[in-house]
Amino acid sequence: MSNYTATAIAHPNIAFIKYWGNRDARLRIPVNGSISMNLAGLVTQTRVTFRTEHETDVLNLNRVAVYGKALERVSLMLDLVREMAGLHLPAEVVSANNFPTGAGIASSAAAFAALALAATQAAGLHLSEAELSRLARRGSGSAARSIPGGFVEWKAGESDQDSVAFSIAALDHWDLVDLVAIVQAGQKAVGSSEGHALAGASPLQMARVQDASRRLDLCRSAILHCDFDALAQVIELDSNLMHAVMMTSTPPLFYWEPASVALMKRVPEWRRAGLAVCYTLDAGPNVHVICAASAAAEARGQLLQVAGVEQVLIARPGGPARLVSGYDRAIEHGISA
Ligand code: DP6
Repeated sequence: MSNYTATAIAHPNIAFIKYWGNRDARLRIPVNGSISMNLAGLVTQTRVTFRTEHETDVLNLNRVAVYGKALERVSLMLDLVREMAGLHLPAEVVSANNFPTGAGIASSAAAFAALALAATQAAGLHLSEAELSRLARRGSGSAARSIPGGFVEWKAGESDQDSVAFSIAALDHWDLVDLVAIVQAGQKAVGSSEGHALAGASPLQMARVQDASRRLDLCRSAILHCDFDALAQVIELDSNLMHAVMMTSTPPLFYWEPASVALMKRVPEWRRAGLAVCYTLDAGPNVHVICAASAAAEARGQLLQVAGVEQVLIARPGGPARLVSGYDRAIEHGISA
């Protein structure tokens, strides 16, 4: 059975230009393109084994057996892989994150990128990066961006075929650091999938989407030219626009906590005082403070002094999703890969 098993790792990513809203929810074709950076040091490791011993798919996440909706979502991706490979076996999926459990770091991107790679390899398929990105997208939209390495753009596209992510710059292109200021650990109240479905209810969503290609151009160009000030302007605007849409959906979604707001005020002040820092927030209260590597130590020290900041994780640009030779138990204990 050894050729029916494979293990892969993938990094989460932080979106600089956000994905919020789908034109096709089932295929996860987004209403606008997005740009992100993979986060090194934070990893999800996933082993997939297709075997006859189980009647149905089984999922073990961070050493706990998981059932219900999370297992269904994994099975949906396994079904796509089984169909492609002409395989009819159930799978055992064992997965772990090395980042603090419940720290509110979006894990679905890394999870579905690692699952897409491990499952296809275990099924004997050898997909190209673009094919893997499309497949990962079906599990979680942002997972499409955790397949390629470094700085990544996901072209919205109009079909399953052309909605795909690719690297726009390698991980060593720009020495940026993401300082993740954890202001509230724990599960978010409304998950991204439900949030995407509400986006169209906001009267601001159309304006956000219509202006997206301009912001994508500004962000891509800022990355290619390593222009920190230009990056800072566009990613703070994009984050604020997405949260404006969230807050004006029906029902409204408020992801910020008081400490999130405090940081959104402090970070631009520090930038005006000469520190290369800017902020962006995903669908949660934690604040990703993007900074030049040379500013990271000072920025981290400042962040730790702000009331409500519980801890600060540090991530540099990360590589692509990749196969590994075996399942490393150390990752289950929070040790970095
Ligand atoms: C706010 O990729 O988590 O982080 O496709 O339903 O799994 P699903 O949604 P998901 O949405 C990410 C939303 C975001 C912005 C982003 O990462 O672009």
